[in-house]
Amino acid sequence: MQMVSFEKAMTYRYPESVVLVNSCDGQGKPNSMAVGWSTVASYNPPLYAICLNRTCYTLELIRRQKQFVVSFPGVGLEQCIEYVGTHSGRDVCDKLDVAGLKVIEAALVRPPLLADCLINLECCLESETDAGDHIMILGRVLAVHLNDSVPDRLMNFGESRYAPAVASR
Ligand SMILES: Cc1cc2nc3c(=O)[nH]c(=O)nc-3n(C[C@H](O)[C@H](O)[C@H](O)COP(=O)(O)O)c2cc1C
Repeated sequence: MQMVSFEKAMTYRYPESVVLVNSCDGQGKPNSMAVGWSTVASYNPPLYAICLNRTCYTLELIRRQKQFVVSFPGVGLEQCIEYVGTHSGRDVCDKLDVAGLKVIEAALVRPPLLADCLINLECCLESETDAGDHIMILGRVLAVHLNDSVPDRLMNFGESRYAPAVASR
């Protein structure tokens, strides 16, 4: 046993969940980013938490519009995750189109659902908490969509490696 830094220890945390967080601006133009630091926070009421770095465009959009969608990506979205996880919507026009993400209109919020995702959670902003170098956003889940034609959701194995979350792998 040896003492190591927290950052070093966290390089051993994989596999890690990855979700896509979709938001939009005042004109309804959508944006999406990859988020590894997320979790269900409560069933009753239904709350889902995501941790966002202070400079990402998504945080600005969620603060302005008070709405977002959390999508659990399925197999085949590996390159889309990499793209939206390494390019900011502040710098790229039509980020979702360039990433190749197919959108579907949501039922209750303006940001879109993603077609090739297993689960889409429509959320409104419940609260935000200062979490050091990140902001923890708590979303109240307003509607949930399951796409059972997507067989497996993807997990992040680090260093741009993704694999389906199935027990046999
Ligand atoms: C697999 C993966 C996981 C990521 N997890 C997070 C995360 O949990 N929180 C975060 O703030 N950024 C995370 N990022 C980085 C953001 O997705 C990235 O900064 C993105 O460009 C922000 O886009 P935006 O400025 O359009 O909102 C992750 C990136 C990847 C590839």
